[in-house]
Amino acid sequence: MGGNCSCQKRRSFLQKSWNWIRLTGYAMLIYPVIKFFHFHVPEKPRYVKIGKVLAEGEIYFDPDFALFAGAEKDVWAVSRKCTHLGCRLHYSEKEHLLICPCHQSRFTPHGKRIAGPARKDLKMFQVEMMTENGREGYVVTL
Ligand code: FES
Repeated sequence: MGGNCSCQKRRSFLQKSWNWIRLTGYAMLIYPVIKFFHFHVPEKPRYVKIGKVLAEGEIYFDPDFALFAGAEKDVWAVSRKCTHLGCRLHYSEKEHLLICPCHQSRFTPHGKRIAGPARKDLKMFQVEMMTENGREGYVVTL
């Protein structure tokens, strides 16, 4: 009777060990597949040229960003893609805010999130002055 019990314990132990070995094997097989699908190739930067200089307070809208001109030639470009689920933001002249039409997240012109389900601030893009064919303007790097 005692020998039979120890045999069952050993069988149970071997069965559990075998299950762990199988589980580890599956994980080792699945890991490269998961890694492959999560592999991130960095996108090439895209350059958008704007062939004019904005006056103070003026805003230029591109489908992907809004370019704001502040005081003393300060310009900045902020993404129009909502950080919640990616809807395109609209600018409210009245409230001076970027507002998401989908779930009403709100952002300042500098991309700071102030309300709504979005948790992150908006992405900012690099802006540089350029001169092309004698005309000044900007290049925004997306
Ligand atoms: S997609 Fe903008 S708040 Fe949901």
